[in-house]
Amino acid sequence: MRTITALLSWNCLLGLSLAACPYANPAALKARSDEETGGSDNFLDQFEEDDSNGFLTSDVGGPIADQASLKAGIRGSTLLEDFIFRQKIQHFDHERVPERAVHARGAGAFGTFVSYDDFSNLTAASFLSAKGKETPMFVRFSTVAGSRGSADTARDVHGFATRFYTDEGNFDIVGNNIPVFFIQDAIQFPDLIHSVKPSPDNEIPQAATAHDSAWDFFSSQPSTLHTLFWAMAGSGIPRSYRHMDGFGVHTFRFVKDDGSTKLIKWHWKTMQGKASLVWEEAQVLAGKNADFHRQDLFDAIESGNGPSWELNVQVVDEDKALAFGFDLLDPTKIIPEEIAPLQPLGVMTLNANPTNYFAETEQIMFQPGHIVRGIDFTEDPLLQGRIFSYLDTQLNRHGGPNFEQLPINKPRIPIHNNNRDGAGQNIIHKNKFAYTPNTLNGGFPAQANQTTGRGFFTAPKRAASGNLVRELSPTFDDHWTQPRLFYNSLTPVEQQFLINAIRFESSHVTSAAVKENVLAQLNKVSNDVAKRVALALNMAAPEPDPTFYHGNVTVGISIFNSTLPTIKTLRVGVLASTKADSSLTQAAALKDRLAKDGLVVVVVGEMLADGIDQTYSAADATGFDGVVVAEGAEGLFDTKTVSPLYPNGRPAQILLDGYHWGKPVGALGSAGAALQSAGVPSTPGVYSNATDVESFVAAFEKGLAQFKFTDRFPLDS
Ligand code: HEM
Repeated sequence: MRTITALLSWNCLLGLSLAACPYANPAALKARSDEETGGSDNFLDQFEEDDSNGFLTSDVGGPIADQASLKAGIRGSTLLEDFIFRQKIQHFDHERVPERAVHARGAGAFGTFVSYDDFSNLTAASFLSAKGKETPMFVRFSTVAGSRGSADTARDVHGFATRFYTDEGNFDIVGNNIPVFFIQDAIQFPDLIHSVKPSPDNEIPQAATAHDSAWDFFSSQPSTLHTLFWAMAGSGIPRSYRHMDGFGVHTFRFVKDDGSTKLIKWHWKTMQGKASLVWEEAQVLAGKNADFHRQDLFDAIESGNGPSWELNVQVVDEDKALAFGFDLLDPTKIIPEEIAPLQPLGVMTLNANPTNYFAETEQIMFQPGHIVRGIDFTEDPLLQGRIFSYLDTQLNRHGGPNFEQLPINKPRIPIHNNNRDGAGQNIIHKNKFAYTPNTLNGGFPAQANQTTGRGFFTAPKRAASGNLVRELSPTFDDHWTQPRLFYNSLTPVEQQFLINAIRFESSHVTSAAVKENVLAQLNKVSNDVAKRVALALNMAAPEPDPTFYHGNVTVGISIFNSTLPTIKTLRVGVLASTKADSSLTQAAALKDRLAKDGLVVVVVGEMLADGIDQTYSAADATGFDGVVVAEGAEGLFDTKTVSPLYPNGRPAQILLDGYHWGKPVGALGSAGAALQSAGVPSTPGVYSNATDVESFVAAFEKGLAQFKFTDRFPLDS
């Protein structure tokens, strides 16, 4: 397959009949991909190099040896003429490009989008034009504030950037896992980011907002409150990228072929179910496995369990932009689903990992400005600024304007325009008349528009503009009603987690004035929240400030109020002992049985041995969604049992941490004694009654679907 694809693409590059080139014709490309690849997208194969045979060469092709430099005598100086040395070291010296200014830490994957239907009644977008139509995709998940080497589980908004390689050009939804944003005007983005990034003097703290400047900004700029509430609750610390939703955040437009438009919001709904970590385990993970999320995504795809999301839109008539008590152009607002229900459009499944992190995940350049016929912007002033910012920063990261020619960015259809030259130009343009209009090149490339060539066209309908102003519309003024809607829609334990998160973060703030401001803003949302935070900060509880108080709730907010639709790929730790054969036999039986249901089982023992996957010294409750002790291993949980092979008390700690972090835990038969030794009480989600594998698994798997037993977390009285 690779050979056929490579040959075809070489034919194109060599300029053989353009009509025969599948990249010159989207329909032919589709036919090729369906017939020859069974629908998967092998476009990037032509750029791969596998080095599985042949001699090492220099960058210009001559065979060389590069393990010793050329010297004047065996103990002499290295010579300037050593082009092999200079080329190798110089390439190394330039290996890094600047990391992304924000969202530097991330992981990506390839996938496919399948449209549920022909949606030409809504949009002229070609990728939504037919039932079953497939479009190749690349997705990158990220955190915002941390640098490229920071931990995955930092509490943060998470990027959810999706690229559709459509047959009418690349289309990106550059979204987040939270449906709203901190600010309403792009001109404030540098202020927001400067406040959350580490302090300029000591560069502390990394990938964290628990510091003065972040909370100074949040409390001085109340537009941040809604997003802050989402980030301080479960969405800030998702169980994995696979267990979070994605949102386009802004209101966009759908445009039909006839030019008529509707306002829309994009939603990616996880088909794995939403799930979140608790804060303690997120912090432990940051030290024990900083790669937790990228590993999870990579492993799930590698094991054939690539995650899926359903693409939905909320559709609203143009004249309803101000009809719901807030402005649809304000990116700090959701449209509650009761007002505009989600309409499903199709499903995206991730099915292949990158071959090379740098070439693909690092070099992909998402832009809100990558839109196609059928989609258009709105006047949202945050969106308007983003359209400039991404292209600008990417010119900086790549030192020139030709980054769209990199394999991962290259559209899957031919490019014809009069853009020329620049650093890293890959195309050998044959047209000598690179201007429009021309006669000498027959007038080509020709202009495409609404009626000719299925060109992109801007929706004519835009809000009337008035006098020039440097201010936000008063329809953007209410910053408190929706954070309260969010808070009201959480379960009591989720409200407690949110309050605990704000307590944690604001207790790191040293400025008394900032803490006062924080309380004042929280109090505008909810006196309950303000009082409970004040208690932990040893500050006076404020009197209610009720202007924006209300009792409304909405759907789609809570994470812990439902069970997971699938437990496939969740991780179970089976704690065994190399000294007890019975525990090894039972661990193997449990592993077989749970694996049948798609669970990933890790058997833990004192040392690596037949049937043991991980040692106690390397294992930790953070690595498992549920923990089981196999019969015969109970001796390890006695506090008097110590071993030089692992830190004192580690087996019991895994069990107890698992319990404290809300996970299902259990033991079979006599191993029930391990629960007692570790101090695990008998409460829901603790399984110790079963003696045989089958009945244990039946109960335990229900616990995994519940995911977190939230009654283990104390509430403020
Ligand atoms: C709704 C608000 C926003 C969302 C959802 C959002 C989302 C994202 C995401 C997901 C990425 C990572 C893209 C990737 O994986 O390559 C990103 C990067 C970035 N964002 Fe935003 N962002 C928002 C607002 C802004 C604003 C207002 C600005 C500036 C005015 C901005 C500037 C940037 C920059 C400079 C990058 C780095 C891009 C690169 O180097 O490739 N963002 N953003």
